[in-house]
Amino acid sequence: MKAEEIRRRYIEFFKSKGHAEIRSASLIPENDPTCLFTTAGMHPLVPYLQGAKHPSGTRLTDYQKCVRTGDIDEVGDPVHLTFFEMLGNWSLGDYFKEEAIRFSFEFLTGENNLNLPLNMLGFTVFAGDEDCPFDDEAFQLWRSLGVAESRIAKLPKKDNWWGPAGVTGPCGPDTEMFYWTGPLPAPEKFDPEDKRWVEIWNDVFMQYNKNAEGKYEPLSQRNVDTGMGLERITAVLQGKKSCYETEIFAPIFAALDSVRGVDWVDPADRCASERIIADHLRASCFIIGDGITPGRTDQAYVLRRLIRRAVREGKKLGIEECFCAQVADAVITMFKEIYPELTERRDVILGALEKEEKQFASALEKGTKEFQKLIDRVPAHIARKVISGKNAFNLFETYGFPIELTVEMAKEQNFEVDMEGYEAAYKKHQEMSRAGAEQKFKGGLADASEQTARLHSATHLLQAALRKTLGDHVCQRGSNITAERLRFDFSHPEKVTPEQLKVVEDLVNDAIARDLEIVCEEMDLESARSRGAMGLFGDKYGERVKVYTMGDVSCEICGGPHAARTSELGKFRILKEESSSQGVRRIKAVIEGK
Ligand code: ALA
Repeated sequence: MKAEEIRRRYIEFFKSKGHAEIRSASLIPENDPTCLFTTAGMHPLVPYLQGAKHPSGTRLTDYQKCVRTGDIDEVGDPVHLTFFEMLGNWSLGDYFKEEAIRFSFEFLTGENNLNLPLNMLGFTVFAGDEDCPFDDEAFQLWRSLGVAESRIAKLPKKDNWWGPAGVTGPCGPDTEMFYWTGPLPAPEKFDPEDKRWVEIWNDVFMQYNKNAEGKYEPLSQRNVDTGMGLERITAVLQGKKSCYETEIFAPIFAALDSVRGVDWVDPADRCASERIIADHLRASCFIIGDGITPGRTDQAYVLRRLIRRAVREGKKLGIEECFCAQVADAVITMFKEIYPELTERRDVILGALEKEEKQFASALEKGTKEFQKLIDRVPAHIARKVISGKNAFNLFETYGFPIELTVEMAKEQNFEVDMEGYEAAYKKHQEMSRAGAEQKFKGGLADASEQTARLHSATHLLQAALRKTLGDHVCQRGSNITAERLRFDFSHPEKVTPEQLKVVEDLVNDAIARDLEIVCEEMDLESARSRGAMGLFGDKYGERVKVYTMGDVSCEICGGPHAARTSELGKFRILKEESSSQGVRRIKAVIEGK
């Protein structure tokens, strides 16, 4: 079964069980400065898992774009991915274990669903510890559905507990479903240590909140959060060893082949470089599509790493010319129906990739000169010539010079590279960035400080003021809010003049001075559209959304949170206007005095 079909069947199945389909949230967590990327389907739903009312109800389903960068260096092997799609269904204080397990069973084994034979499936349940008892209920439920006892493993927290996604937040015991991928028949006993049993789905029973002291306190409502990785289930169902062998990656590899002038390659014979290019550029398309351009920090830095690594691998394959945009085009085309935002932002995506690719090519050139200087410094008569780890790391850090390239070039001139020294320097750097990343998590996922809410409201007023001043072509392309400032990216072909910026600033401050009430209403998309609300209009007929209105100034579809009145915002001041990428401008602004 193809990925498209699995996705369709999943969503249809859960819709038939009373779930509302919601749209994939952005890869960049909104109003959450504590985390770089959306890492799971539940991630954008944290406030609702904690008790806030979701406009679409208590049963939800979707496919969510996710990026996980923890294993970025593992990408290249047949199993790892940075970007993936997660199919999910949620109960927000609605059904709990019994229905969740019944739904999972029916979807896995049902004839019109995945139609998997029960004798190919294994299950795990939480074994219990001092925080939470053995999940006898889940165990009995699987048994009552006909699962043999030998196919249910009881495992500790390390295996059968999910969350919180950050340091604090919703979490709970889970039950996981596995599929046998080894030779037939599947063994009678399910051994979770045997890698031929592949995990395909996870049902999390979110009934705890992990607090800042590390204690598990009961949540006000009991939720179900499930996640099924689309790429993995596709590979498993097709009997493929790797998702890179499925049709999901075929057009991407085909584009790469066409750049290289390669005729045909057996999908099972793709090499690490090809997999890295395919994964990294696929992830890059989605990240740029959600408003990020390559840079030095946070998401922008991750994006830069992904692109540069892909470019480097391209060099390894012997590609001389720029190739990223051509590969990216295949990604965009492939997802044109499922993620139309890629097509909408095609020019931006291709432009950003090309720019970064060219820039890196010139860094490579400069780095080569620097490298030659290191070589020339060492007298010819020295027998064992070595490039120090520190210098090798400097080439990597300053010129984006991959270590493999340094080693290769060193060899040509009879030099070695002190790899231990390099590893040590790299590790030290990694620890520092990891500490930084962990710091980012500390605020928790649902951090919505009042200042963030005010800045968020200011963003709406800014968009309205920009449209009034510059024209209706202005439209949000990205937004990022920290506790200190807002950053707003919007479509506009040229620099905004200082005079125009002044008009925009005044318009926002006028709206603040008018002390407008910020009204939130829930309605379906069609009503929001007829109301003239700004925002993304997808094709999910009947989807419920929140619409925030500020007098006659602004009306936007948005998840919130917001201030109660515009007067809470204080004085609005634009700090900077600059180019973000082709056709997209960026404004950074603050609010003062509150
Ligand atoms: N949130 C759970 C996961 O990511 C379902 O596995």
